[in-house]
This record gives sequence, structure tokens and C-alpha cells, in this order.
Amino acid sequence: MSTLAAAPLVDSFGRVHNNLRISITDRCNVRCFYCMPEKGVEFMPRSEILTFEEIERFVRVAVTLGVNKIRITGGEPLVRKDLPVLLRKLIDIPGVNDIALTTNGVLLPKLAGPLYDAGLRRLNIHLDTLDRDRFFHITRRDDLGKVLDGIALARRLGFGPIKLNAVAVKNLVEEDIVPIARFCRENRIEPRFIEFMPLDAQQLWNKSKVLTADEIIETLSREVAPLVPVADPDPRAPATEYVYTDGGGTVGFISSVSKPFCMNCNRLRITSDGKLRYCLFAIEETDVRGILRSGTDEELARTIRETVSKKWIGHEINSSRFVAPPRPMYAIGG
Ligand code: 5AD
Ligand code: SF4
Repeated sequence: MSTLAAAPLVDSFGRVHNNLRISITDRCNVRCFYCMPEKGVEFMPRSEILTFEEIERFVRVAVTLGVNKIRITGGEPLVRKDLPVLLRKLIDIPGVNDIALTTNGVLLPKLAGPLYDAGLRRLNIHLDTLDRDRFFHITRRDDLGKVLDGIALARRLGFGPIKLNAVAVKNLVEEDIVPIARFCRENRIEPRFIEFMPLDAQQLWNKSKVLTADEIIETLSREVAPLVPVADPDPRAPATEYVYTDGGGTVGFISSVSKPFCMNCNRLRITSDGKLRYCLFAIEETDVRGILRSGTDEELARTIRETVSKKWIGHEINSSRFVAPPRPMYAIGG
């Protein structure tokens, strides 16, 4: 394998890729409207989904190319059987310095303990509202209580940092912004407001439905405490971070629509069926499952490098040329 260790994964715009997001399933136990249709979702057959051994092999090869940060996503990753076993395998790979997981939190009351024991510490929990009716309206499931129990348990067990992802949809979550922010301040959790992106299965998105970072900053500054940009921002982080001037903590904004951050992107994605994607919004994707099932590590490394080298300059959400990717969010991994 040492022969593979070579130059880092650089694209034609000089962006170095060290960050891999792995979607381990397209299944989900809720049905957020900005991601999935309410009924009739067709999931991939299990035979198409990468096995733990295939995922582990992919990561071992990616690490030789400079990948050192991993995020596990879905669908909902906690619905995948034996997830703690996979996490342990990935954490044990030399060169993996950082591993995080994005979850909707519904299964955390059951799985937070085993995940902690497997060595996971970083969690992003997806929660848009503290209001039971609106939670039901958004996710089409009555599971707010489980998510809140899951967050409380994760804090008690010592997970950290815990971040909370809230999707910012106009004319829907305005009333939730302040309660979510207060809840996070009280629990020392960083909220991250994610602008609604055109990745929903029903294609409901349009620009007028995006509640922008600037609008949220203004609301929070007025109603919670003044927010200012952090003094030394990490240029590679997708979230722009702000701090409360009263010491109340940090708030992140993922302003993919109002302020695209493509020029700082260091991320590469693999879908649960083994397609490599250089962008959340990419139209093209590269199959690596075939190589994982019948090819060599050298072929795999070459294919990863070629995929990164084809990466475009960035998405065109704000242009009339924008074409939504053929897969919705749950089949890509956020
Ligand atoms: N726009 C923005 N964020 C989305 N997510 C899911 N669908 C969308 C969308 N259309 C977020 C969820 C989850 C993360 C994986 O992606 O909040 O936290
Ligand atoms: Fe499930 Fe996440 Fe999609 Fe919601 S956004 S339906 S939790 S995969």
C-alpha cells in the first residue's frame, strides 16, 4: 500500500481534499419534506449497498491519498445494523484523525451508549424545531421526544462537540429560530442553520423558500444576544461561525445559497451504493463499487484521484443554468 502514498488529492483549482463523507444507507426512519417524499420512497436493494468490508477498504485507500477526516451520513446512519462495529473499524484505521456522524437523533436513546463505547465523540444532530406539531409537519413522524431524550443522553455520556443542524426554510421555521438557539445556549451545543438547498425529492425548492443566514443573524442578534463573526475563522469549514458577544457560545451558518463557499471545499463523498461524488450537487458520479468488488487498490486510488481532478469550480444554485442532481439528499448523504 505504501506505493500508493503520493501527492495529496488536489483538483484543477488547487483545492486539497482531505475530507470524506460516507453515506452508509439511503434508508431513513423519518420523512423530512425537504429531503424525502411522504410516501412511496424506493430504497436501494441491499445487494447494491457497500458492505462494511468494502467501506473499510475504501477508507484505507483514501487515507493513503491524504483523507484524514470522515463523516458518516445517510439517509439515517443509525438505521444501519451494527453501525458501532463499522465505526470501530474506521476509527482504528491509522491516519483517520477525526470521525463524526450526522443523525436525526431518533435512535440515539437506543444507540448513543454503543456508539460512545465504539469510540465516537463528534455528533451532529438534526433538529429544526422544539415544537411537537411543527416537528410532525416537517418530519411526518411524532418523534420529537425521542430526539430530545437522545440529545440529553448524548450529553450525559460525554459526547462532544455536539452540534445541532437546523434547515432554514422560509415561512416555516421563523418561530423556531430563537427557541432552538436558546436551547443550544443552555445545553452548550452549537446550532448550525443550513439554508434550504435544492436537494428535496419533490422539487419543492425555490429561492424564495430559503431563510438566509443574514436574516437569522439579525433575528438572533435582536432577540437572543448580539452576534459577531468569530475572530479566526477556519477557511475550510462549510459553516461560517459567529459568537454571541455575551459569551453565550457559537452559532454556525451554512449559507450554501446566499454565500456559496465552493472555493474552500475540501470534501469528497461516497454514496451508500458506492458512487463517488466530488460535490453535493454533482450531476456526474464515478462508480467505485465495481472496483471494490473486483479491482485492485491501485485502480481504486487512481479512480479517486481522477474523480477529484474532474471536480467543477462549484455549484450554480444561483444561476438559471442550475440543474438539481438526479439524486435527492437521502440518496447522496448530507
Ligand atoms: N437543504 C438543506 N439541508 C438539508 N438537509 C437535508 N435536506 C436538506 C435540504 N434540502 C440536511 C439535514 C441533515 C443534513 C444531512 O442535511 O438537516 O442534517
Ligand atoms: Fe431522513 Fe435526514 Fe432526509 Fe430527514 S433529512 S428524511 S432525517 S435522511
